[in-house]
Amino acid sequence: MRLINPQLLAALRDLDVERIAGASLIERTSLGIGGSTDLLLIRRHTALPALVTLLREAGVAFRFLGGGSNLLVSDGELPWVVLQLARQDPEVLLEGNIAVVDAAADLGRTVTFCAKHDLGGLEGLIGVPGTVGGALRMNAGAYGMQIGTYAREVELYRAAAGEIVTLKGDDIRFEYRHTSFAPDDIMLAVKLELPSKPYREILQGIRICNEKRRSSQPLNQKSAGCIFKNPPGASAGRMIDELGLKNVHVGDACVSERHANFFVNAGHATSDDMRSLIAQVRESVRRGFGVELENEVILWPA
Ligand code: EPU
Repeated sequence: MRLINPQLLAALRDLDVERIAGASLIERTSLGIGGSTDLLLIRRHTALPALVTLLREAGVAFRFLGGGSNLLVSDGELPWVVLQLARQDPEVLLEGNIAVVDAAADLGRTVTFCAKHDLGGLEGLIGVPGTVGGALRMNAGAYGMQIGTYAREVELYRAAAGEIVTLKGDDIRFEYRHTSFAPDDIMLAVKLELPSKPYREILQGIRICNEKRRSSQPLNQKSAGCIFKNPPGASAGRMIDELGLKNVHVGDACVSERHANFFVNAGHATSDDMRSLIAQVRESVRRGFGVELENEVILWPA
């Protein structure tokens, strides 16, 4: 979708919102799949309520993009503009054991920054691509930890109310790859309370997680991480592997040889290729194990 209304464009500038015309989501998603649209980069969080009102009044459909690392977007000209928070400087502020982290902060950089200041707990997330906001929304986790455990306060834009609100950690439910945030809540910042640990000890944990990840996941290929959630008590990756589906592909969309719950874009996979592969594997698991796998990856449109 291209914005052409001069009044709207002027109003965006007034809100300090930068428009990147015809931005390609191929370059902004870890899968390297997706069409083009105008991308609106939000420099000031406080501009969000006015921006959303402006777009609604102008009848412009919009979606929020985080780090693009858990997302499969359709191809071609997209029917909505994409909003994204610009990175803040600094991304993280420390107040004792509390790290105040901007939602657009890179997750990996945040883990290492906190580590260097002797704050641990997040080691398992090293190597997980994406932003802190995205990780929080999905309650990202690995190697026995999940980010929600450390969240004490979250600042977000609540689209339903049209305002920025602050929630206490205790008022948010963090479950396996699921949270009680409303679907259209936009994460803005989080206060994480992290345990004190000497840097050298944290570094050791980080190295172990990095090694485990490198040996079991296709880190050098384009993917969205795990495609399916693990069903209770089972592993989606192991089931897909046991069915002999590694390397099965639709066009350039391919079940990874290294980890069967990672589907990689081995070249120029289209969104339809990837969707077909997901449907095919889900059907095989349903027939083979009687289990209906639920997507972990987010589909645009659903
Ligand atoms: N396995 C296979 N074949 C495979 C993949 C896995 O047999 O192709 C077996 C492994 O040998 C292991 C079991 O399945 O015995 C579980 O595998 P793994 O330890 O790799 O963990 P996972 O359950 O597949 C989960 C998360 C990952 C996270 C890892 C490490 C989900 C859907 N996945 O994977 O998170 O990195 O544990 O903690 O919860 C993600 O969320 O995108 C993601 C990659």
